[in-house]
Amino acid sequence: MTQNADLATVAREMLRQAYAPYSGYRVGAALETESGEVFGACNVENASYGLTICAERAAAAKAVSAGHRRFRRLVVATEGDRAAPPCGACCQFVAEFGGDIVVHSVAKKEKLSWLLKDLIPHAFQGGLLGAGK
Ligand code: THU
Repeated sequence: MTQNADLATVAREMLRQAYAPYSGYRVGAALETESGEVFGACNVENASYGLTICAERAAAAKAVSAGHRRFRRLVVATEGDRAAPPCGACCQFVAEFGGDIVVHSVAKKEKLSWLLKDLIPHAFQGGLLGAGK
């Protein structure tokens, strides 16, 4: 089974691929599927800033595109001293596939962990769609 340290290694390798010419803030992510596969990605910025995609969402899109729907762990790597949680948009995006995912964040001087459902306890769920019909 992939260990946390291995996932962190993938996330840090992904960080080096980041395309972040505008913010200069590089992020890498590694998402582990229930079957133990790992999908890594980096943030990809755009001159039209709002089109930027975060590393976590890019990793989730890769995993889902490969047919995966269930996930165990997400590791985020940032290059500053402080560890950072995934942004709200990324929490919502990944919570689509369940909140029982452990999220780790690693930085130079800090490591933090959460459950996804604690980061976004009231995620919007597909079951709510159609409530107005
Ligand atoms: N970013 C991520 O990749 N993940 C997050 O959860 C928060 C922010 C990226 C987006 C942008 O390229 C840069 O960090 C600064 O916001």
